Amino acid sequence: MSKIYYPNAEFSKDASIPSMEAYWKLQNRALEDYEGYWKSFADEKIDWLAPYDEVLDESDAPFYKWFTNGKLNVSNQCIDRHLATKANQDAIVFEGDRGDVEHITYAQLSTRVNKMANLLKNEFNVKKGDRVVLYMPMIPEATYAMLACTRIGAIHSIVFGGFSADALRDRIDDAKAKVVITADGAFRKGKPYMLKNVVDDALKEGGESVEAVLVVKRNNEPIEWNDSIDYSYNDMIDAQSDECPFEIMDSEDPMFLLYTSGSTGKPKGVQHSTAGYILWAQMTMEWVFDLRDNDVFWCTADIGWITGHTYIVYGPLSAGTTTVMFEGVPTYPDAGRAWKMIEDHKITQFYTAPTAIRLLHKMGEDEPNKYDLTTLRVLGTVGEPIDPPAWKWYYEVVGNSKCAIVDTYWQTETGGHMISPLPGATPIKPACATFALPGIVAEVIEEDGTPTPVGEKGFMCITKPWPSMIRNIWGDPERFKTSYFSECKKDGKPVYFTGDGAMIDEDGYITITGRTDDVINVSGHRIGTAEIEAVIKHVDTIAVSAVVGKPHEIKGEGIFAYIVLKEEGSYSPDEIKSEINKLLKKEIGAIALCDEIAIVPDVPKTRSGKIMRRILRSIAKGEEITQDTSTLEDPTIVQTIEKIVKEA
Ligand code: PRX
Repeated sequence: MSKIYYPNAEFSKDASIPSMEAYWKLQNRALEDYEGYWKSFADEKIDWLAPYDEVLDESDAPFYKWFTNGKLNVSNQCIDRHLATKANQDAIVFEGDRGDVEHITYAQLSTRVNKMANLLKNEFNVKKGDRVVLYMPMIPEATYAMLACTRIGAIHSIVFGGFSADALRDRIDDAKAKVVITADGAFRKGKPYMLKNVVDDALKEGGESVEAVLVVKRNNEPIEWNDSIDYSYNDMIDAQSDECPFEIMDSEDPMFLLYTSGSTGKPKGVQHSTAGYILWAQMTMEWVFDLRDNDVFWCTADIGWITGHTYIVYGPLSAGTTTVMFEGVPTYPDAGRAWKMIEDHKITQFYTAPTAIRLLHKMGEDEPNKYDLTTLRVLGTVGEPIDPPAWKWYYEVVGNSKCAIVDTYWQTETGGHMISPLPGATPIKPACATFALPGIVAEVIEEDGTPTPVGEKGFMCITKPWPSMIRNIWGDPERFKTSYFSECKKDGKPVYFTGDGAMIDEDGYITITGRTDDVINVSGHRIGTAEIEAVIKHVDTIAVSAVVGKPHEIKGEGIFAYIVLKEEGSYSPDEIKSEINKLLKKEIGAIALCDEIAIVPDVPKTRSGKIMRRILRSIAKGEEITQDTSTLEDPTIVQTIEKIVKEA
């Protein structure tokens, strides 16, 4: 049995949820009166501009609606309502790749967001409901753009800056975006890199909906300029008024889209709504990170992922805290960068991915000891399971055995944390997400809703709707239903299935065991195997491919591709791999590159032609094959592939 780490008593004394009794009190209140529970928090946390009618409308399930007909504005939640008390407090502390630092107060944030909102509204006629794509580096203007969109009711869709022109174009076209906001580029590891050229390429074919590309200057490198569509943010922003009245938004108005991978080829535009999302962003921010006055919170994610949305921008700012935004990478100029930033900015909560923890551990075991990290109170992890050695190092060396580690389990679709320790309350088992947060009904069940026995793997489901849940897949309600509400039922009613497996132990602790679908988690980023295979298909020499995940020391999972060539023996694996990766880089981006390939004569298929990926996963991992191979069209292929992989 793993050791249990109890919360630090000194810390718990002042924590917002100070004990498991307090946790159960909240959770039981939710279970006894679900709507009353959510109503009390919605009334406390949201500045309603008009009251809502109903807390939860289930009439069109699974298209749940929360706080029906209520009116609010997210930029008011994140900025205006703080101005009376926090105008001179830092809203954002920005640190550039090369060490340049900028402090942006709530008053300054207000001015800049208002100006940007006016720019979008007045110069490009962006109106409520229009889609704006952001293809931005990690600079404060990205945050201004997000908040400017919410101010005028435009729906933002951020595309991670590592995605290629083709991937960007697909997302622009799917959302029919009116405006794209980008930057010339930014800095990484001391050198400039470019973004605007990717937007140019994306718009060469397709992108017909785009009327303007707004370009922010960051690295001042030369860029191509197309007078008919490109506009300079820096030349236009000063002329804008710093007062832009916010749009009155409905609780259920879509707030943003964020594309994520599923088990079929095309990425899904996850659609979030306004009131429910911002409510849970603020509540989880306050509870899971145990926010207090004068905290300085640093989440290392990129704003192109949901973690960046909720815990760099919307959670911290709606809660009125100071959020740190970092342009660079934590290993430049050396493996002490992150620890130096914690010392310099007196950071109180540090939130990162296990992949970064493993890398920093490997690159500088004792590095944290060189810096003053005593301001830290809470450490967080997100995106993938954390392995016990990385957890132990994070706890003992980074946190000096004093900080709670919150292993937060959630997804793009859930909007905010679902399962996580509470730092002042939960006795922690390392590498375990522990319990559902108060108000969240998370259950490990079988397809028919019966609880999975203790110690066995079941489906990780959230069996009651919650405010910040995905509302739809943009333009594809049918896919929304089949993706999330078709696998599991409880009491005969479809319930939300996360796509993850999980296990519950004898104390009720939940451990996430990983995806049950064909989605790989590379460095905490989701990539569908079908999405990769759809690209590989276009390599002329390849007949069939089957992609699986394989454990990777730093990335968590790496991408392993089994390749069947049209003509055997004509190309070397290295040639094929470089061909595949060239195309993957072009079509998706560098995050989708294959780590390993194996050229095989065929892949294991059932008689009906279905590829048996489980067998391929086991072979890639070097595991013994325990699956029944008798149903295969050609059972001998398994040994042949095993031999090829072993000898590679
Ligand atoms: O498989 C789970 C894994 O990441 C998936 C969600 O990915 P994405 O939507 O990109 O969001 C990542 C950041 C929230 C989940 O389905 N995952 C996320 N957090 C954890 C995790 N797996 C284990 N432990 C976690 N703490």
